[in-house]
Amino acid sequence: MRGWILGLLLAGLATAAGAETPVERGRYLVETIAGCGNCHTPMGPNGPDRARNLAGGLVVVDDATMRAVAPNITPDPETGIGAWSDAEIVRAITQGASRDGRPLLPPMGFSYYAGMTAEDLDALVAYLRTLPPSDG
Ligand code: HEC
Repeated sequence: MRGWILGLLLAGLATAAGAETPVERGRYLVETIAGCGNCHTPMGPNGPDRARNLAGGLVVVDDATMRAVAPNITPDPETGIGAWSDAEIVRAITQGASRDGRPLLPPMGFSYYAGMTAEDLDALVAYLRTLPPSDG
């Protein structure tokens, strides 16, 4: 009897995991636990400006140590990361190097994101590519 219940639970979990596409997984990561929008989505009068989701512009730190402005990470090819390769995006997220190799300022939490699995990073990039391109 117990084995039967466990089997049913496991079957349920397998179905749930299998039903999730990489883009859905990426959306889940970016829009919830990875918190990318905390910095990369600009603020409007009522909180994050969802119409410009991940379009950048928020000044994250501006003090004696540095001025860090979160860039546009939508697929706009000019002002966003639309022209970047998948590998370049993953490198920025996990190693803190911009496309040209410039080290990213520390508010970009690459040392935390470095622990993400390759599969989740691929999913994250797949989701970013589905965002409406915004010119910031
Ligand atoms: C605590 C704030 C913060 C969070 C959270 C954050 N970022 Fe960033 N990110 C930044 C800042 C600030 C920069 C720019 C740093 C600089 O100019 O050197 C940046 C840079 C980047 C870049 C490089 C873009 C470019 O044009 O050079 C990418 C890609 C990026 N972030 C993706 C992400 C993703 C994906 C997430 C979520 C997994 C995320 N960031 C979470 C603050 C943040």
